[in-house]
Amino acid sequence: MSGFGKIVAGSAHEINNPVNFIHGNLAYVQNYVEALLGLVKMYQEQCPITTTEIRAEAEDVDLEFIQNDLPKTLDSMKTGSDRIREIVLSLRSFSRFDEADIKLVDIHEGLDSTLMILGYRLEAEADRPEIRVHRDYAILPLVECYAGLLNQVFLNVLTNAIEALSTERTPQTSQAPVDRLDQITLQTALVDEQWVQIKIADNGPGITPEVQQKMFDPFFTTKSVGEGTGMGLAVSYQIVTERHGGQLTCRSSLGEGAEFIIQIPVRRTVTGEST
Ligand SMILES: Nc1ncnc2c1ncn2[C@@H]1O[C@H](COP(=O)(O)OP(=O)(O)OP(=O)(O)O)[C@@H](O)[C@H]1O
Ligand SMILES: [Mg+2]
Repeated sequence: MSGFGKIVAGSAHEINNPVNFIHGNLAYVQNYVEALLGLVKMYQEQCPITTTEIRAEAEDVDLEFIQNDLPKTLDSMKTGSDRIREIVLSLRSFSRFDEADIKLVDIHEGLDSTLMILGYRLEAEADRPEIRVHRDYAILPLVECYAGLLNQVFLNVLTNAIEALSTERTPQTSQAPVDRLDQITLQTALVDEQWVQIKIADNGPGITPEVQQKMFDPFFTTKSVGEGTGMGLAVSYQIVTERHGGQLTCRSSLGEGAEFIIQIPVRRTVTGEST
């Protein structure tokens, strides 16, 4: 994780510089283009084209189309570069934390940057619709934790939810209305002054009691060889319980989706070990 975190942080840093060139210069380009297009328009209005050569050239390059399309092209380039900047920021926030340090952390920032990283996996695929994410965030205090490790837990649990929604629908679930929305719900709550709770739920196929009994074991997986190592939940369990003195539990029944509940103490020193 630490090596992985460094690679992510390093790549984010490397991408950040060239993206800033593009992003910073786009604003100038937009101004220049606006000025030039304005000038061309003025020429058209005040100095009507007289030579056939200019008229032919204007038709050749499709001047009208360019005048119309160029501002839109620049707008979409700006949207693209904004998006890259957001992703870079998320990657940084996802990995910026020094594993060795316990820090005061905004849990919602961790959830959001993890979701941003997984964003491309939420989009519609050939065999399933887009996965909607519903956020139900409470007002939470900053929580004392190893933020990088906790983000790893969010990543593992959210990845499982996405993979569960991507599996072929079981007979039970295929009886559900065809237009059932694939959905992941993130809910946070302050349980009491000393504990926060993060629930990550999906409305996928659910988990059988047999699998639930074993899924936190290292190397337990129901995925085919090469698809899963079976370490996601084992590592997450260890991070939540041993590193944070918290609890990681699951509620699920077949056909009813699955809900993973993470509870961690707001302050390590006050709450001490997990109950
Ligand atoms: N949200 C979920 N819905 C249905 N089944 C789940 C869900 N989350 C976990 N599981 C089950 O728990 C098993 C173990 O999960 P875990 O994350 O530990 O390993 P994995 O996802 O199989 O592999 P890896 O995470 O290493 O890629 C999964 O193979 C799957 O059967
Ligand atoms: Mg997994």
